[in-house]
Amino acid sequence: MKYYKLAIDGPAGAGKSSVAKMVARRLHYTYIDTGAMYRAITYKAMKLNLDLADPNQFGFLDETEMKFIDGILYLDGKNITVPIRSNEVNNNVSVVASHVPVRNKLVSLQQMIAKNSNVVMDGRDIGTIVLPDADLKIYMSATVEERARRRHEENRTLGIKSDYQALIEEIKRRDLFDSSRNYNPLRKAEDAVFLDTSKMDINEVADKIYEMFMDILKTKRSE
Ligand code: DC
Repeated sequence: MKYYKLAIDGPAGAGKSSVAKMVARRLHYTYIDTGAMYRAITYKAMKLNLDLADPNQFGFLDETEMKFIDGILYLDGKNITVPIRSNEVNNNVSVVASHVPVRNKLVSLQQMIAKNSNVVMDGRDIGTIVLPDADLKIYMSATVEERARRRHEENRTLGIKSDYQALIEEIKRRDLFDSSRNYNPLRKAEDAVFLDTSKMDINEVADKIYEMFMDILKTKRSE
């Protein structure tokens, strides 16, 4: 059976996860938030009191279970949606996500999920590394100020303490770290469609991506 894949990449706070979730629901596809996976590993390593800067500390990944049920990530059987959005995780996740053993493990897990289902997957390296053969690749971005504003709203909805100015600084720092790391950096795939969402409403972005994807499916199914 042929499964279809939609890849959505972009920097922190570009609105990827809200849009990816909406499009996945409309398509009845599985939504995979790969950022949540890097956050979950960071959260677990912090709980284990490990040295997060040391790539050799992540052997626990082999005994870690990560499962998505209805778009929600369960880490070792627990719903960790709220704690993985904490400031502590925000401040450490880029370092953890720069480790080669961590990336290799999570990339192969993501590829395995996509092998067995229709997916909408969002992250930083989906179009370039995880799903280079995706049926449609989107690269979404927006100004730093707009992305910080969206994160601020999202935090408040989740009941997380949030400071707009601090978010601007954090987003700038993470953008730099994520795009300048040596291994699988944040990068637009050459064949990805670039969407500047600074002035677009989230529903508009989702509609646009959904329509592009349906056009591609129509063409592919008639081939
Ligand atoms: O999308 P997010 O803010 O939840 O992602 C958290 C961090 O994980 C982000 O700083 C970069 C990293 N990440 C990554 O390196 N590769 C991915 N595919 C997804 C996220």
